[in-house]
Parts: sequence; C-alpha cells; structure tokens
Amino acid sequence: MVGSAIAQPTGMSITRREFLTYIWAASMALFMAEAGGVAILFVLPRFRAGEFGGIFRLGSARAVLPPVGEGPREHPDARFWLVHTEKGALALYKVCTHLGCLYKWVPSNFRFECPCHGSKFQLDGTYIEGPAPRDLDRFVIRLRDAAGRVVAQTNPQGDPLPIPSSELVIEVDTGTRILGRPARKA
Ligand code: FES
Repeated sequence: MVGSAIAQPTGMSITRREFLTYIWAASMALFMAEAGGVAILFVLPRFRAGEFGGIFRLGSARAVLPPVGEGPREHPDARFWLVHTEKGALALYKVCTHLGCLYKWVPSNFRFECPCHGSKFQLDGTYIEGPAPRDLDRFVIRLRDAAGRVVAQTNPQGDPLPIPSSELVIEVDTGTRILGRPARKA
C-alpha cells in the first residue's frame, strides 16, 4: 500500500515510497561505482613494463644480442628467446606452436627441439619437422635511439629486424605476438 509507514526501532518512520527511493538511490550508486571501476580498468594498461604481456626494455643491441652465428639468449621471465641472424633480430615466443610445450635450444644440433612430440625449428624459428603446424611465433621488437624515439620495428610478417646500429636500444613487446608462417611440410 503506497504511502504506508514502515516502523523503525528508534521510533522514526519512513513511508514505503521513501524506502523504495532510498533503495533505488543505493542501487544507482553501486552501479555507477562499478561502471567507473570498469572504465578505469580499460583506461589503465593491463601489464606493467617488465612483466610478461608488457614491454621489456633490454638495453643496447651491443649488450643484449648474441653474436651472429651463435645460439639464442633466453629471457625466461619474458618468455622469449632473443635470436640474432645475419638478417636481423627475433624474439621467439618460448611456447611450441603444436600443443604449447616449452621447446628447448639444443646446442649440439644447433636448433630448437620440442620434448613433447618432437617438432624441430631452425634458429630463426623456421619449422623443420614434426607435428607443429607453423613456424615459431614471435614478438614485436622495437629499436629506440638515445632520445627514446622508435627508429624501426618488426614488420607485420614477423621477419628478422635488421640492426643498423649496435647502440640502439632493443625493446620487446610481449603483448604483440605474430604467428609463425604455416609449416612448409614435405
Ligand atoms: S607441443 Fe611441441 S611438438 Fe607437440
């Protein structure tokens, strides 16, 4: 019955209409707080620098790249192998493109090998053999100059990034993964 009083223990009383108004106001306040929280989540970066899913600023190419012709350097926290070929640098995602095992670098065979089902890949991530459906996935590498400007970055195909100067700073964006090319199977 609209307008009827609701008795309070203190002796005060409010009408049913007032009671419903308070409930509605409280619900709206809760909704606005939740909506605001969701909006903030979208505005804030999802990953911090130096955390997997974010950006890793490694240092100068001279300091962090292995010499051309040598094996890769592992970055376990960032989940990639840093590779340097005569064509340029690659940051290969450490997860096998078959069913997601962690493949290894096998120096004696100078290639990556997956212990789960035997897929094998060249130093640059190119598929050699096994059930993997594609080359190894890779992350975008950016080169920054002393002023912090991006002077080059991995192309959309994920090709090795040429290094024009060993003084440039290498940055790997583990939030931007490029799928390997389909395996060229015999
Ligand atoms: S998960 Fe690597 S070959 Fe199957």
